[in-house]
Amino acid sequence: MMKGLIPSGGYGTKLRPITYSQQKQLIPVANKPILFYAIEDLIEAGVKEIGIIVGPNKEQVMETVKLKNWDAEIDFIYQGEPKGLAHTVLVAENFLDDVFVMYLGDNILREGIVEHAKKFKENKNDASIMLTEVENPQQFGVADINEDGTIKKLVEKPKVPPSNLALVGIYFFKPVILEACKSIKPSWRNELEITDAIQWLIDNGYKVGWTKVEDWWKDTGKPEDILEANRLILDDLTTEIKGKVEGEIRGRISMDTGTKVNKNSMIKGPAIIGRDCLIKDSYIGPYTSIGNNCEIINAEVEDSVVMDGAKLINAWNIVDSMIGRDAVIEENKSLPKGNKFIIGDNSWVRI
Ligand code: G1P
Repeated sequence: MMKGLIPSGGYGTKLRPITYSQQKQLIPVANKPILFYAIEDLIEAGVKEIGIIVGPNKEQVMETVKLKNWDAEIDFIYQGEPKGLAHTVLVAENFLDDVFVMYLGDNILREGIVEHAKKFKENKNDASIMLTEVENPQQFGVADINEDGTIKKLVEKPKVPPSNLALVGIYFFKPVILEACKSIKPSWRNELEITDAIQWLIDNGYKVGWTKVEDWWKDTGKPEDILEANRLILDDLTTEIKGKVEGEIRGRISMDTGTKVNKNSMIKGPAIIGRDCLIKDSYIGPYTSIGNNCEIINAEVEDSVVMDGAKLINAWNIVDSMIGRDAVIEENKSLPKGNKFIIGDNSWVRI
């Protein structure tokens, strides 16, 4: 029976300041933690036992995952200091006694993994990777493919990429990958790379196959990736309105209970709004996700992710933004006039 392994640790430095207080994989995309997309894909593929690798904010990850009743047994495995993806395999050694799929907790894949898992079982390979064409292969693991379709070589973040085929962060393995992870040395970025472990399998005569991802895939490492993933997920949104709407709504909208939209407001979908929010005299534009307990008063926001408890008051033209939990953006009505900021380390503001 295939098991699932989801690395959900790391510091997420490219998503600071959000990741100072929130584990990267818990950042909401269309009001759902990114990590939940991975768990759902594994369950859909018939995985019944999932090990989640936790690191810096382990309590937060455990609490959030336990909020839901999953149709699978979920174990948490503590990584300690993050030392790379091959290291996450090593810390899970006792759990990995069978074939398994490793699904990086910050990856989102529209087509899911059902077909890919089926091919892995049929082809009887020792490992199988998933590849997709990207415009910026330098930022990923990249595959060099022989004319007969076999893998020639895998390289991590190459300066001169041998192709535009990036390694998606989802891998099918037999337990022999443990031996590979034990045999490799840390890379230039001082991490035990899973890409190097798979290359070790190839070099040592093991069979490594691959499947192609046809639909969209997103690795949510940076703010613009979160916003892009949010747009892609909202493209599939279906309308479901539980709140009370007096204003005008257009397009596909999902709105949870207790949320009120007054008559001077307008919402243009696709957009999702959580529970117990107040939308007053405001415009919510396409591709916006608003969490629970938010107040949007006399404001305008679009193409953004607004997290739980945030307040936008007399705040106009907020676009392409990520607003953290309980953050407040409001017009300055007191003297001295001017922009006033109380923002955390590594924040960035464009006005
Ligand atoms: C990791 C892998 C890389 C892969 C990527 C996919 O990169 O090392 O090969 O293409 O995930 O998300 P990282 O996120 O550690 O930079």
